[in-house]
Amino acid sequence: MNEAILSRGKFISFEGGEGAGKSTQVNLLRDQLVGMGVDVVLTREPGGAPGAEEIRQLLVTGEPDKWVPMTEVLLFYAARVDHLERTVLPALAAGKWVISDRYADSTFAYQGAGHGVDKAIVQQIHQFATKNFWPDMTLILDTDTGLGLTRANAREAVLSELQREDRFEKMQEDFHGRLRQAFLDIAKENPERCRVISGAGTIGEVADRIWQQVSVTFGLSI
Ligand code: TYD
Repeated sequence: MNEAILSRGKFISFEGGEGAGKSTQVNLLRDQLVGMGVDVVLTREPGGAPGAEEIRQLLVTGEPDKWVPMTEVLLFYAARVDHLERTVLPALAAGKWVISDRYADSTFAYQGAGHGVDKAIVQQIHQFATKNFWPDMTLILDTDTGLGLTRANAREAVLSELQREDRFEKMQEDFHGRLRQAFLDIAKENPERCRVISGAGTIGEVADRIWQQVSVTFGLSI
């Protein structure tokens, strides 16, 4: 594999609504890159570092109205800073590639478009908390809202009440419709960074669409 590609790490985030099949695709992309000799760190938000995982528990469990939206934004950013400083930046500096299951676009979509926090305020928080740090590439998995929620609910139904991380899935369907539109708008506003991937079809078909985008963007070939 090309030396220039191995010498610097790349940061790829996955985004999308509930049940879009993100975690499956995150793992498949990791496997594909590892198979090509790339050193990959797989991580997620909220979480991805020990303290950030503790904050995650405050965020993903409980009743939908547990937090006011601004508290939620600040908790996500508290976790994000820890994740960046402890996990993402050191890995990139060491030449590793980092794939994160969600990053800051989720805050703009969920807390911004979903819960009405002013986008300009989220942008300011992003600026001072991360020094405006964004991924090299963001893959937005776009799935029909009803289908995604059905999948996500089926996944949670087998867990006990205490294990469920379904606080966001319990929110109303119009919230999820706004989310989908918000991610599509984010992609339109950031065409150099974002790629919308249709979640329609089989797991393999979606994985092929993702690989097509990643390999072209970073000049990788099998
Ligand atoms: P998770 O179980 O990881 O959901 P998913 O499998 O859909 O990624 O839980 C993370 C939840 O947190 C998810 O519902 C999206 C939400 N979230 C926000 O609301 N804002 C954010 O900034 C992030 C990173 C996640």
